[in-house]
Amino acid sequence: MSTQPAPAAAPTAAPAFGTVAAPHMVVIDVTDGQFGDPVVQETAAFTIHPFAHVLHYGSACFEGLKAHRGHDGVVRMFRHGSHVARMQRTAGLLCLPVPPADLLADAMRAAVAHNLDVTPESPGALYLRPILFGTEPNIGAAAAPSRHAKLVVLASPVGDYFGGAARALKLLVETTLPRTTPQFGEAKAGANYVMALGVTQQARADHGVDQVLFAPGGSVQETGAANFLLLDDDSIVTRALDTSFLHGITRDSILTLGRDLGYRVEERDISVDELLSWEGEAALAGTAAVLSGVGTLVHDGDQVTIGDGQVGANTSRLREALLAVQRAEAPDRHGWLSAVS
Ligand SMILES: Cc1ncc(COP(=O)(O)O)c(C=O)c1O
Repeated sequence: MSTQPAPAAAPTAAPAFGTVAAPHMVVIDVTDGQFGDPVVQETAAFTIHPFAHVLHYGSACFEGLKAHRGHDGVVRMFRHGSHVARMQRTAGLLCLPVPPADLLADAMRAAVAHNLDVTPESPGALYLRPILFGTEPNIGAAAAPSRHAKLVVLASPVGDYFGGAARALKLLVETTLPRTTPQFGEAKAGANYVMALGVTQQARADHGVDQVLFAPGGSVQETGAANFLLLDDDSIVTRALDTSFLHGITRDSILTLGRDLGYRVEERDISVDELLSWEGEAALAGTAAVLSGVGTLVHDGDQVTIGDGQVGANTSRLREALLAVQRAEAPDRHGWLSAVS
């Protein structure tokens, strides 16, 4: 096994999302439910016992957040407290030891502080990927939680997930298959993603789409990696929070900024019928996606154009409003930024 550190990116490079490891990671070992001290290490391979709970019973979860370099050069984490809270919630759902909020926040901060020199200028960012997984060496523990675990905060300099703001996305509307189970959609667990993978691969091969929009039973949930919103000049409409989908922090930020800008926010069910007859815009919201316009839906073999098929004006306006806060170019009215440098 190689223990060589992964290569770091040059600060000005625009690497493909998630493919470049920042030089440092923060590691916390959990023994009998007790979290140890954070240790900053080179990003490199570590060993795991082949009997580890995660390898057999899928006890793994993660988070994804960004630290942005502002126009003033200062690097700030965006809403890291909300990501801490969501990771605690997911860990509880997976019966993993729940990280103390301060410890996880400190580990995130340390991951940024030790990777400042590879944090790109905007529109790039330093993406943080905390992971937590069960390490208890017991292959008989199918019905028992893992008391031992590892919490690692990885970092990666990133550019744009969908390759820029200009391109409108194409989605397959899947009305039969769910992304995951109804009670587990709110968990940021790797198992949810691998369950959606086969469906997404098939949709890409068959229809050349970017993502699948899951709408089992004709009720819109979300895509495999982002929340779904409808917009027009007056309103933003998105599914109300329930356990079936991930409670995106970008979704919440866009709704909050939208209210600030005078949009009416409606959190309610969206039927596929309403979606197909919507005359405004559609967009995906996520840490990686930011706010990306949707131009085309594929439904029952038909292509349906949303608006004029391009990224809508309201989508661009809200995307820019969010980016301006993240880069500290607009006032941080909601206390979302946390400076590291
Ligand atoms: C399935 C799914 N839904 C929604 C989101 C958006 O969540 P957030 O805005 O917190 O990144 C993500 C992550 O980006 C996701 O993986």
